[in-house]
Amino acid sequence: MRAVRYTGVGPAAEVTELVELAEPAPAADEVLVRVGAVGLNPVDVKIRAAGVDFGPIEYTELPGWDVAGEVVAVGDAVTGFAPGDAVFGLARFPQAAHTLAELAVVPASDLALAPSTWSVAQQGAAPLAVLTAWHAFAAAGLTGDATGRRVLVLGGAGGVGHLAVQVAKARGAHVVATASPAKREVLLGLGADEVVDYRDEAALAAIGPVDVVLSTVDAGVPPLGAVREGTAVITITGFPDGAEDALRAAGAKQVERIMVAADGPALAEVAALADAGRLTVLVDTELPLADVVKLQERLETGRATGKVVVTLP
Ligand SMILES: NC(=O)c1ccc[n+]([C@@H]2O[C@H](COP(=O)([O-])OP(=O)(O)OC[C@H]3O[C@@H](n4cnc5c(N)ncnc54)[C@H](OP(=O)(O)O)[C@@H]3O)[C@@H](O)[C@H]2O)c1
Repeated sequence: MRAVRYTGVGPAAEVTELVELAEPAPAADEVLVRVGAVGLNPVDVKIRAAGVDFGPIEYTELPGWDVAGEVVAVGDAVTGFAPGDAVFGLARFPQAAHTLAELAVVPASDLALAPSTWSVAQQGAAPLAVLTAWHAFAAAGLTGDATGRRVLVLGGAGGVGHLAVQVAKARGAHVVATASPAKREVLLGLGADEVVDYRDEAALAAIGPVDVVLSTVDAGVPPLGAVREGTAVITITGFPDGAEDALRAAGAKQVERIMVAADGPALAEVAALADAGRLTVLVDTELPLADVVKLQERLETGRATGKVVVTLP
């Protein structure tokens, strides 16, 4: 089978190659998937650029964590999946998973049946990003009915952000998102109640207090005016020095950096939300495996609206 391999540390065009590998076989608790699509995530390119373990995330020269495709075979202990099923998942994260290949073996507990209303590209694009939003909101206590609660998503148009906006909206929250003006209409279309230009200091200061802040931007500091007594502030990228103290001084009861993890059961809930028409995936760019360098370069611009995804026939 063909797979993507990094030959070292450097620019995507210099160190990315397609190699031929032996077909993997599933262990007792694993599923063999014929891969149809794999979302690229910033972590896939950060490990290539750094060449080392990235925090708790295991370095691998065979990248890929997202996966969608068709079940080819299941291990002896697997129940709930059968050959022919369309599945999607975030495999093994933060351990290496090697899903950027024509075949992948994935623990059954990391998979769910894929939403039938999404394209295969959307199914492959979503898992890591949507689970990040899911786990961030869980950490903030934003689960179940969130009617009447106000949520601020910093970086609303990115891979994680555009899904976070929709998850918060589906739970009934009033959602404020930051984005550049060109992305305003897209986010309103996804259900954001307010879209604020992140370069407009006056508009940021006028957001008003919220219950939950989710920051998805690198080195992003939430506007302190959005924090009141009891606000939960979750980041997926970390805050600059001093930001946590300032947030707590403004009243934040929780300032926490979270890390996504593989979670098949949550993806089953995601699939139900998708098939109820309440969650979609914006695909910024989708290209075949042979164009994986172009896709990495697109992701590394930091300007994608939604997800960048590799598709396989
Ligand atoms: N902790 C975890 O478990 C976890 C999980 C997933 C991702 N992450 C990290 O989270 C970050 C975001 O990931 P992602 O997949 O969402 O990235 P992404 O898709 O590459 O994000 C790109 C988007 O960010 C927007 N953006 C850039 N700077 C902004 C700013 N200052 N304010 C508002 N929006 C801004 C861009 O909009 P414009 O073009 O309009 O600027 C673009 O739409 C990455 O650093 C990633 O490594 C962490």
